[in-house]
Amino acid sequence: MRIFLDTANVEHIRKAAKLGIISGVTTNPSLVSQEGKADYQAAIKEVCSIIQGPISAEVLGEEVESMIEQAQDISTWAPNIVIKIPATITGLEATSILAKDNIKVNFTLCFSLNQALLGALAGATYVSFFVGRLDDAGHDGMQAVKDIVEVFNHYQLPTQVIAASIRHPQHCVAAAKAGAHIATVPYSVLMQMIRHPLTEIGVTRFLADWQRVSHQ
Ligand code: G3P
Repeated sequence: MRIFLDTANVEHIRKAAKLGIISGVTTNPSLVSQEGKADYQAAIKEVCSIIQGPISAEVLGEEVESMIEQAQDISTWAPNIVIKIPATITGLEATSILAKDNIKVNFTLCFSLNQALLGALAGATYVSFFVGRLDDAGHDGMQAVKDIVEVFNHYQLPTQVIAASIRHPQHCVAAAKAGAHIATVPYSVLMQMIRHPLTEIGVTRFLADWQRVSHQ
């Protein structure tokens, strides 16, 4: 399973990039606005320059035509741009058109296997399944990811499944076990994934023991 960073915070993206394990970034309008960035294009271009892998940027139009217009524009901002399109009826139509035009789509805000399946059939490169938000609504988000992966594998659909709306490290474990191709994680969760108190205690103890012996 690959790890994407789910943020528009450039400082966090730079820090995470140094770790050498981030394959892409997902953003959405809420994440960009959290950073107080007025210039959406500049913010996305900056992210694209830090990480070479796919960078998802979302269209905001509700009509097919405006989605396509925006997607065509955004896709010229950088070679690694992926267009995020919501899993609506108009979004599905826009995805089909964009995919035929070889524009990579991340079919987002998926909350059901049917939405993910339709996105895959429309030619989306990725489907983003919002695990945390589905859990919040009293469902089993990760079971749905497992089901989607199973169906995509069964029918040999090339669309990759992104486990999104990840809230804690256990979600990452479950996403990996469910066979998600990618988990897109907030920076705080990435930090939690690597940290373990026993590792920290172990490092401190090794250093202390090493100080007690003489080194020639
Ligand atoms: O990748 C989707 C993510 O940004 C949404 O997360 O925590 O707002 O449900 P959350």
